[in-house]
Amino acid sequence: MSQQQVSPAKQLIGSIELAPDKSIAQRAAIFSLLHEGTSTIENFSPAQDPQSTLSCVAKLGAKVDVDQSIVRIEGVGRDGIKAEINELDCGNSGTAMRLLSGVLVGAGIPVTLIGDPSLSSRTMTRIIKPLEQMGAQILARNSAYAPLFITREDPLVPMDFRLPIPSAQLKSCILLAGLFGEEPTRVIESIPSRDHTERLLQLPVSELHGERIIEASRHLKIPAQNYRIPGDYSAAAFWLVAGSIVPNSEIQLPHVGLNPTRTATLKILQEMGANISIETNSESFAEPVGTLTVTSSALKAFDIPVEWIPNAIDELPILAVAMAFAEGTSHIRGAEELRHKETDRIMAIAQLLQAIGAHFRELPDGLEIIGNPNLEFESATFESYHDHRIAMASAVASLRGSKRSLIHDAEAAAVSYPDFWTHLGALSSN
Ligand code: S3P
Repeated sequence: MSQQQVSPAKQLIGSIELAPDKSIAQRAAIFSLLHEGTSTIENFSPAQDPQSTLSCVAKLGAKVDVDQSIVRIEGVGRDGIKAEINELDCGNSGTAMRLLSGVLVGAGIPVTLIGDPSLSSRTMTRIIKPLEQMGAQILARNSAYAPLFITREDPLVPMDFRLPIPSAQLKSCILLAGLFGEEPTRVIESIPSRDHTERLLQLPVSELHGERIIEASRHLKIPAQNYRIPGDYSAAAFWLVAGSIVPNSEIQLPHVGLNPTRTATLKILQEMGANISIETNSESFAEPVGTLTVTSSALKAFDIPVEWIPNAIDELPILAVAMAFAEGTSHIRGAEELRHKETDRIMAIAQLLQAIGAHFRELPDGLEIIGNPNLEFESATFESYHDHRIAMASAVASLRGSKRSLIHDAEAAAVSYPDFWTHLGALSSN
């Protein structure tokens, strides 16, 4: 397992071509499988999660042709998915396991889904119960964990499903199963979660009494996925915080996805006093794309409104680092979901904050962070817990030390952002 040393930075200067969006890349691969015909996806992600999904899609019958970052996928359509394979490896990816489960139940293909130790310790109950209501039989370890043996012998039962938690993975899983039904399946969400699935599949969305209702059925045509994947906003967030807390910095992030269901961190950082300019300049297949520029600034504390949490869920580890260097006491509450990510991220963030000597209180559903703009530490040793976002958040915190810090299992970053360490080196050396 690799260790990474990170030196303090005097400044961070440069322009970064971010890793392609992981959420969109995984959907692009799965939706291309379901499309009858060829999809051409530009800027496909070399990161481990999207690559896991791509190989699953190939095993389900799609013809995948990779030419550097351009991926051509000949889809088989809803009825062409193959039943010959009996095991699909989702690696570290919760998105792959949850979205593919929906497809397999819809198609009625018996397959076992497996994952790495982290994914195998994440609860799948949230998808198992509704998929069983839709007619699936799912055998899971301790009724909750992968390996998941999925089959459906009974007819598919379309349903109206109110999301019990604001989870885009759960929403997408049910909609994908619903795409195979004669009658519509409707997912109702009261707190918006990321909406890439409905955008990229062009699903009908309506609003009633402040809730969103998204519909799927066999009668909807699955569009070809011909687009360029924007840079990953979740990757951008590491540089937005790094550029804010390291003095004399200026970082430009062109071609970033700016889907409003992903970018609550922009509002949060701006409320904290971050100096970020936003230029929205184009759209890539209904996904807004733009350039972000951050320069250093003094940060102040902020309490994140609970209803913003789902739209900042993946950025909470790096926001906690920003809060540690902000003036005043910040709160992250209503984020119990963080305990069910690649690791228990509330625990992992607490360990990170401990390592740099920050003051904080771990709460059941988040953290209270007592910030200090002049927080000083020499060198810290961080555990990544094999979690990409914890490894990268630790690296950003390390930049404010006075000596070199050490991050264990730093290779975890490659799950979403393989060039992270190279980009960090480039920004620090300018
Ligand atoms: C994702 C949704 C989020 C997010 C994950 C990717 C997706 O999970 O944390 O990294 O691609 O749909 P939940 O929807 O389960 O919160």
